[in-house]
Amino acid sequence: MTRLLTLASAIIAAVFLYSSPAAAQDKVTIGTGLISSQKCILCHSIGERGNKKGPLDGVGRKLKAEELRQWLTNPEEMRAKTKATRTPAMKDQKLTPEQLDALVAYLETLK
Ligand code: HEC
Repeated sequence: MTRLLTLASAIIAAVFLYSSPAAAQDKVTIGTGLISSQKCILCHSIGERGNKKGPLDGVGRKLKAEELRQWLTNPEEMRAKTKATRTPAMKDQKLTPEQLDALVAYLETLK
């Protein structure tokens, strides 16, 4: 009986340990896809892909997660704050909370 319990808790611990990094990885994968499907690349580039006037390479080093989130939800305020002048200006991307999380997770990997 004790052995069974030990086994059961080992399995639970294993599932718990392995599920968190996997979930984070999924977010990044989803975020990668959203860069194209949400048309970010019309105004931004990552590596060789997209509009070179707005490179996002290294943005994960430059900006904190909170700032990335702000850009996606309140670009007008961020534009004013950072005195950005490039046009067309970024609009509120109208993302779902899940899309927002995934994009921020992905942008954070761009170091
Ligand atoms: C209509 C054009 C346009 C679209 C579409 C757009 N952006 Fe932007 N974005 C801008 C402009 C302009 C800025 C201001 C900074 C600059 O001049 O590059 C900006 C700024 C940013 C910044 C801050 C960059 C920095 O270096 O400080 C991030 C991050 C960002 N955008 C991500 C996104 C993501 C993710 C999407 C897609 C969901 C997106 N943008 C869609 C035009 C756009």
